[in-house]
Amino acid sequence: EQRHISLTVNGQRRTLGVEPRTTLVEALRDVLGLTGTKIGCNQGQCGACTVLLDGRRINSCLTLAVTADGADVVTVEGLADPTGNLHPMQQAFAENDAFQCGYCTPGQILSAIACIDEGHAGDAAEIREYMSGNLCRCGAYPNIVAAVEAVRD
Ligand code: FES
Repeated sequence: EQRHISLTVNGQRRTLGVEPRTTLVEALRDVLGLTGTKIGCNQGQCGACTVLLDGRRINSCLTLAVTADGADVVTVEGLADPTGNLHPMQQAFAENDAFQCGYCTPGQILSAIACIDEGHAGDAAEIREYMSGNLCRCGAYPNIVAAVEAVRD
């Protein structure tokens, strides 16, 4: 049985029908076609599905879409400005080679933005700790930390 929910995604009001068991990442990818948000483990352990929900980062594979009714969601598709200029964190990831295969990158970037916004980017150790829920199988961690530091500074 479908439920209708209404949420703001990247600044746009969207109304969609979802099953009670549909996760937010499934709603984003399969219903709204926003495939920038990735699914890795689908059980809250890799961070590939990280998005911002009302300004806080969450694992969208662990969040039921119905609980996001009325919420404000930001995904990687919402970061560049309308003219296509990259968000400073996207720019920093590119300039610091903070990815290799890129699969974890959308989630890394949303976490990195939250890291600074929530005041957890004091030094490299604090950044690493905050970002520890976002796994990178390529091992780009030092460059990811460098990207966060570049935006923080
Ligand atoms: Fe959600 Fe891994 S896919 S944490």
